[in-house]
Amino acid sequence: MYAVTEAGLDLWGGRFHEGSDERGADFTRSVEVDSALADDDLVGSIAHVHGLAAAGLLTAEEGNAMVAGLEALRTEVAAGAFAWDPALEDVHLNLEAALTERIGPLAARLHTGRSRNDQVATDLRLWSRRAVAELDAAILGLERALVTLAEREGEAILPGSTHIQPAQPILFGHHLLAYVEMLERDRGRLADARHRLNVSPLGSGALAGTGYPLDRAAIAAELGFDGPTANSLDAVSDRDFVVELLAAIALGMVHLSRLAEELTWWSNPRFGFVRLSDAFSTGSSMMPNKKNPDPAELVRGRAGRAIGALTGMLAVLKGLPLAYQRDLQEDKPPLFEGVATYAASLLVLAGVLESISVDRVRMRAAADEGYITATALADALVRRGIPFRLAHHVVGTLVAEAEAAGTGLEALDDTTLMAALRTVGDPAAAALGADPGTPDLLRAAASVDAALASCDVVGGTAPSRVAAAIAAARSRLGA
Ligand code: ARG
Repeated sequence: MYAVTEAGLDLWGGRFHEGSDERGADFTRSVEVDSALADDDLVGSIAHVHGLAAAGLLTAEEGNAMVAGLEALRTEVAAGAFAWDPALEDVHLNLEAALTERIGPLAARLHTGRSRNDQVATDLRLWSRRAVAELDAAILGLERALVTLAEREGEAILPGSTHIQPAQPILFGHHLLAYVEMLERDRGRLADARHRLNVSPLGSGALAGTGYPLDRAAIAAELGFDGPTANSLDAVSDRDFVVELLAAIALGMVHLSRLAEELTWWSNPRFGFVRLSDAFSTGSSMMPNKKNPDPAELVRGRAGRAIGALTGMLAVLKGLPLAYQRDLQEDKPPLFEGVATYAASLLVLAGVLESISVDRVRMRAAADEGYITATALADALVRRGIPFRLAHHVVGTLVAEAEAAGTGLEALDDTTLMAALRTVGDPAAAALGADPGTPDLLRAAASVDAALASCDVVGGTAPSRVAAAIAAARSRLGA
């Protein structure tokens, strides 16, 4: 297909008289990266051939011969048998040369009405669509692992925290389902990005459109696109979809990183809430005692790289005039790496959760620290007519008393409880302070179980709410 001159391979037709310098060729070559687009490129070429035939630019026999050659190349690529030639710069030129070898001079008609600019934009959209499907399945896999763990250990009680300080008791299942919410939003962002990326640039040519009567809508439909792009300049230079995917991936990785961070704390012996299985831990080359949560740490670390992929891509785009610029070739490494990293992180965290063991006793014991039922106790006072700010003050004095006495709120004696009610000048507090049933009422309200049960609102941690939320998640996700 390409004439070979004395100076070297003649890739660029008659205009060039010298072969390229090795340093230039090495620098511009992309086949090591974009060979991942091979099947998408061939599928796009097949649709383009159908378009050329429909427009009368190829006879039916020519079209069939070309499609047969392209299908044969798909098989060769799928079998890993395709020999990539680095001298042929990129995936597109490699495949066109291979088609020439297979079907001869007829292959020279394939690139009619097409540029690598609309070609690569099409390939990358097809690739991205497949990537979204793969990521969506992996997110669902992690959601299932979270829900399965919630079904198994969701009734375990642990201290919920804010500011990394003990705050209020929560159910472990409630905590796990918080991540399911994040992951569902992540799925939504990917679906949204897919919706916008699913249009066909084919027929946009290098930048201005094509001089042949190609039925762009029919070609788009054959490729499963919702329709053709509306502006040829935009079509060849738009990489918004890469940014959108990388943004969805970066945020998804941030969510995974937060979960990973919690796993590192929970598995620390000081917490002892969970034990990671040996299968998802690593030891130390020097310290025989060590069992480290390396998969979780690496998810956290790779979230940093995913954020870098997004910011890197934005920086590539920010100074580019219309239309296609070669800078756009730099879209693939961050996108490919971002997708691979996210998929692998989702898989490994699902494995970690599937094999984790939970120490309910240690979790529950931690809930006895930090006076985490104080809010529930204040709420009980409010239910007896005391304004919340005053109730907050009363319970604050009780926390100080309990701290001084080295006891829990639910173990405070009658005298202390009654005295605290007298620290505020409020008729409801006075009435409560005169009622002999008050100390038992307050001690009961200060129990962890009562605190949990009191958060009985939509989205709250009351056991009945959590059980219903777990069941709803299960029925949505299936087994
Ligand atoms: N490898 C190129 C890319 O990924 C393909 C398009 C090349 N187009 C061009 N006019 N040089 O962007």
